[in-house]
Amino acid sequence: MAADNTLVTGMEKTITFTLNGQPRTVTTDPERRLLEVLREDLDLTGTKYGCGESECGACTVLVDGAAVRSCGRSVESVGGKQITTIEGLSPAGRLHPVQEAFLAEQAFQCGYCTSGMVLGLVALLSRKPIPSDAEILSRMEGHLCRCCGYPNLVKAIRRAAAAARK
Ligand code: FES
Ligand code: FES
Repeated sequence: MAADNTLVTGMEKTITFTLNGQPRTVTTDPERRLLEVLREDLDLTGTKYGCGESECGACTVLVDGAAVRSCGRSVESVGGKQITTIEGLSPAGRLHPVQEAFLAEQAFQCGYCTSGMVLGLVALLSRKPIPSDAEILSRMEGHLCRCCGYPNLVKAIRRAAAAARK
């Protein structure tokens, strides 16, 4: 076992990480994108493939609490780290306050961008519980909504930020 929680076998490596609070191990090509491994090997399809080029934010997950584009990261790079996908955000069956805010403001149409946006916002609020409007907008710029549901998204983000202040 290497220091980065990986074990090499031929062209594949065994990589261990914590996924939604549970230890997980995959044996695969270490260069594969984290997004692919989550969706295809681990059946976590809440993480979406949008552009595949680290531009749209649809594939955002949390890695050690930070928002990360899983299409732009190799699975090897998350060895030993804590990963949270949208499926792991409400482990007790209760929606996360950010999810509640999105529902309350009807902040999605097709919903394709939503899981990435929710996780991006969770990361922002955990780092900055009282974000300024500029910080909110800066976060939004990294998440494209193809349905152009931005007005309700902004309302949801403000609602979530207000709830986080309480
Ligand atoms: S699919 Fe990863 S940023 Fe668009
Ligand atoms: S709600 Fe459809 S892409 Fe955002």
